[in-house]
Amino acid sequence: MVKALVSACSEVTVRPETATDHDAIYHVNAAAFGRPAEADLVNALRRDNALSLSLVAERDGQLVGHIAFSLVRVADEQNAFDAPALGPMAVLPMHQGQGIGSLLIEAGLAAMVEQRAKIVFVLGHPTYYPRFGFVPAQRYGIECEFDAPAEVFMVCLLQEGALQEDATRRHAVVHYPPAFHDI
Ligand SMILES: CC(C)(COP(=O)(O)OP(=O)(O)OC[C@H]1O[C@@H](n2cnc3c(N)ncnc32)[C@H](O)[C@@H]1OP(=O)(O)O)[C@@H](O)C(=O)NCCC(=O)NCCS
Repeated sequence: MVKALVSACSEVTVRPETATDHDAIYHVNAAAFGRPAEADLVNALRRDNALSLSLVAERDGQLVGHIAFSLVRVADEQNAFDAPALGPMAVLPMHQGQGIGSLLIEAGLAAMVEQRAKIVFVLGHPTYYPRFGFVPAQRYGIECEFDAPAEVFMVCLLQEGALQEDATRRHAVVHYPPAFHDI
């Protein structure tokens, strides 16, 4: 559990989700994205046992943020291995811009280090995630199975040298869990 003071008057706690959080997590995702697709995705990942980590941010007893991780398959011509991917994540609109998203990402990445993950992927805002160490995965010859611009598919190396920067020799594709195909 992580506790932090994100504004002058209010403390935010980050902790793993529990069974009683499911409705509030749905609400946070639907409100933040302005549509139900990502909230439905979180439910589908949970149903499929594909949520490898799900953390919530609580402020004054209210659930205000959520971050999900699931395992993706990285495959090239010779090898295949699993690695965690961040997403979706969401903070209630009224609580955005106050460091809660950063707190969730930092807690999530710390948990990934504890789980001995070497890398973490994200498909997301190219101007937000680099501050946490994410760089375009293309640099390492890795692309995402979805038709997304190269700069939005990023990877964060949790261990130095976890990937070799040799995009010319490797061509690997990241495959997301089935629930992501329905979004
Ligand atoms: C993205 C999100 C989770 C960030 O949460 P947050 O609590 O507002 O994040 P923080 O307060 O830690 O950081 C705020 C920073 O994020 C930036 N940010 C927020 N949304 C962004 C976006 N769509 N693209 C780029 N940067 C964004 C803000 O500009 C701000 O930057 P600054 O620190 O330079 O001023 C939140 O804005 C959100 O829920 N957005 C809607 C859902 C979404 O897009 N989720 C991410 C999917 S990849």
